[in-house]
Amino acid sequence: MKPRPDKGKIKILKNGPYLVTGDIPLAEEIIVIGAEGEPERWAKGRDYPRTDPYTLCRCGASKKPPFCDGSHLHSGFDGTETAAPGYELDEADRTTGPELDLTWSAKLCAGARFCHRAGDAWNATEHSEDPARREIAVQEACDCPTGSLIAWDKKTGKAIEPEMEPSIGLIVNPKAGESGPLWVKGGIPIESADGTLYETRNRVTLCRCGASKNKPFCDGSHTNK
Ligand code: FES
Repeated sequence: MKPRPDKGKIKILKNGPYLVTGDIPLAEEIIVIGAEGEPERWAKGRDYPRTDPYTLCRCGASKKPPFCDGSHLHSGFDGTETAAPGYELDEADRTTGPELDLTWSAKLCAGARFCHRAGDAWNATEHSEDPARREIAVQEACDCPTGSLIAWDKKTGKAIEPEMEPSIGLIVNPKAGESGPLWVKGGIPIESADGTLYETRNRVTLCRCGASKNKPFCDGSHTNK
């Protein structure tokens, strides 16, 4: 996607928080667990009051989460960014099926586990000649908040992406009793501390626990996947 200034921006401050500008909505996104014990769907949680700008905690030490309260100044937080600028298709694990391909980037996986219900997205891709299995694979890939999992239409060669309005979600996983990453939706530009723009993507997740080894993105370190 091309960066669009009208979508606002997330600027990473050196060893500090995310500075969000452009009146971007902020709300909880809750993982609803289904009968199989795996994530089944997303539910909207509470909306946060709109301010512009606002700063979101990146170190995990704030006492006023999700907002920054300056705790990074005293916690010794090292926010050095180590991630590649975008989705590294060459490095992604690829599964090929009759109607779909599925790529998965381990480095970007937040462990949300939407891909594990109904026999899993990989299995459904391998049997994607069956419309019902194809639908499962596409739905599970599109439910992945990070975009680490992408379904590709073999006829067009294009990624199948969900429509998303620009917004930021605070992922809540009640089953794991944890707060997950920031879910950045709808192609909001993300700018590194040195001013470089990351590849603008429809969906990515940013670390807000401070533990990711692939900063600024979540790599699932907040959970054991
Ligand atoms: S929030 Fe997932 S690694 Fe920090």
